[in-house]
Amino acid sequence: MTSNLTGKTAARKSPPAKRAAKDTVAFEVKDRIAWVKYNRPEKRNAQSPDLNRRMTEVISELEFRDDVGVLVLTGEGDAFCAGMDLQEYFRDSAAKGLGGVRKAQREAYAWWSQLRWYQKPTIAMVNGWCFGGAYGPLFACDLAFCADDAQFGLSEINWGILPGGGASKVAVNLMNHRNAMYHAMMGETLNGPQAAAQGLVNESVPADKLKARVDAVCRELLKKNPVALKATKDAIRRVSEMTYDSAEDYLIRAQEAADSFDKSGRIEGMKQFLDDKTYKPGLGAYKRPVDAD
Ligand code: COA
Repeated sequence: MTSNLTGKTAARKSPPAKRAAKDTVAFEVKDRIAWVKYNRPEKRNAQSPDLNRRMTEVISELEFRDDVGVLVLTGEGDAFCAGMDLQEYFRDSAAKGLGGVRKAQREAYAWWSQLRWYQKPTIAMVNGWCFGGAYGPLFACDLAFCADDAQFGLSEINWGILPGGGASKVAVNLMNHRNAMYHAMMGETLNGPQAAAQGLVNESVPADKLKARVDAVCRELLKKNPVALKATKDAIRRVSEMTYDSAEDYLIRAQEAADSFDKSGRIEGMKQFLDDKTYKPGLGAYKRPVDAD
């Protein structure tokens, strides 16, 4: 108890107990969709070392499960993710010296990298605040959808550092040069429609429509051949850093590698169009045996 100026006593607000590491991420699998949530709403889902380690465990557990066909990353509460945790990721790690800093960086970058090359298609469902260090996972996801009232920012300049942890690279990969420079130097936020117009996400929709839109995209992805999807998403990332000739060559080899792994898909896809005439590839996916009624 503590006394106030009137001499009355008031209960001192004690800081809430720290969330257990295993509870910093929540997930559920429903209809082959893994809904993975940042789960530190009281800290606006900032990425702490505990959360980064837990996220690695969760996405690793889900990656090769047969009952998972697509992964959605979103946030509990009113944030997608407020970037790196300034206390636990930056200040506490720095207090442990260079080893502490590098360890924290590696734990964060590792799961973003795993997500960039994830076996299953991935979607960022940006439900609210999205700052700085959240750009790593945002870019790591193959597709991104946001709520119109989400807010995106490279806030680093506002607290005195450059956008690290890949965030500057994400900005130039997703935005044009002028927009990336303005975004990084000014530290202003973009709302959902602005983020979509500048390329940070595929689409912005009203908040109450966000989950349904993402769910519909997931259901379309689940109809596609998974070997072709993995080859395609890797191809789009890889060729962005290649010359035209290297890309052409890579794509031949990548398709042949996918075929050697499983070419039943393309054979069936061609058969249903050329022989059975049951679908048009220009308008939708062929019926895979697993989808058969
Ligand atoms: N690191 C550590 N703690 C954070 C955090 C972060 N990145 N973002 C939010 N929090 C904490 C706050 O310190 C506060 O903790 P407390 O209740 O123990 O004081 C709690 O989360 C709620 O934050 P608050 O600022 O009160 O919420 P808000 O809804 O008013 O504002 C933001 C939300 C996201 C605009 C604001 O929290 C913010 O600017 N966060 C920092 C964003 C940032 O610069 N991230 C880049 C890091 S690379």
